[in-house]
Amino acid sequence: MTGTPVLYNDWYPALRSDRLQGGRMATAMLLGLPLVLGRKRNGRIFAMRDACPHRGIPLSCGRFDGDAVICKYHGWCFEPESGQCMEIPSLASGQDHPRKIYSAAFPCVEGDGYAWVYVPKPGSGRMRLEGREGLPPVPEPPKFSARFRTAHLSADLPCDVDHGIIGLMDPAHGPFVHQAWWWRTRRSIHEKKKLFEPIAQGFRMSAHAPSANSAPYRLLGVYGEPIRTTIDFVLPNRRYETLRCGDRWFSSLTTVTPVTAGQCRIDVCAAWNVFYALPFATAIARFFGKRFVRQDQVTMIQQAEGLKFNPPLMLIDDADRPAKWYFALKRARLEAEETGRPMAHPMEGPVTLSWRS
Ligand code: FES
Ligand SMILES: [Fe+2]
Repeated sequence: MTGTPVLYNDWYPALRSDRLQGGRMATAMLLGLPLVLGRKRNGRIFAMRDACPHRGIPLSCGRFDGDAVICKYHGWCFEPESGQCMEIPSLASGQDHPRKIYSAAFPCVEGDGYAWVYVPKPGSGRMRLEGREGLPPVPEPPKFSARFRTAHLSADLPCDVDHGIIGLMDPAHGPFVHQAWWWRTRRSIHEKKKLFEPIAQGFRMSAHAPSANSAPYRLLGVYGEPIRTTIDFVLPNRRYETLRCGDRWFSSLTTVTPVTAGQCRIDVCAAWNVFYALPFATAIARFFGKRFVRQDQVTMIQQAEGLKFNPPLMLIDDADRPAKWYFALKRARLEAEETGRPMAHPMEGPVTLSWRS
């Protein structure tokens, strides 16, 4: 992919897994890589590069019979989880089937209603089915009880993944972009001090009482227990927010996934047991969640207009320090990949940041 470097060798959400049903194939784009996905008769889902290794026509133009993907052009037949070519119809008697023909196939698992695909670094060789055991776990929002509800939403952002991610972690835009009576108003802006600490591949805004100027948090006050919230950022693209109030909890995993060089997608997946018994709680959460994400999306569409002309930009302290950490973490990971040495964490220890929002 051209443009800003992307982080390979990790899991990315390709699409909602309920789209993979009834022998239909679906396409998705991840890190500039076109994919074709489907669900086999046995329920397992798969993701292959959407290009036939013979002459390159998208495999999604062909057919899927529930077990095999059959190319439209010359009928080559692929087992979609391993990518192995099982049949070449044009072979005449006495012509042996070459054993080692594969279409690129990627590890693909279902989690929280998404098809997650592990995208290895291009040119790092074929991912064998047996080799998939050693991969990092598929990310998910943490869950703290057996019963919980979930909701999700997505929005396309017309900018590169870096702008999407720093937008995700930007603490100063709240009172301006998310101004609303039910969230917070511009007048409620006040000085904040938060402790940040390094964690593996990222940083954590340590457990704290949530911002007193936001209505949903005030609402949780009905439980009469102290509310603690933690926000983590973890490479390549994940923001985890966890809110706990006694045995009540709410958690979310937000990812910003590079689609192409100038396009990314934000996916929010939330789980909670707060207000579990409240009718319509899910519908209400989705309604407000959508408005919230839409506000970010509209802002980023406008920002993309400005970015088209490559203006010089600046990041300031302390409000943009998380963005600076993101860039430093990303550089450190790319460097570790290049040199094979362990990744050096750019933060030396806990840091307190203050800003007004
Ligand atoms: S291009 Fe797919 S079988 Fe020939
Ligand atoms: Fe936002």
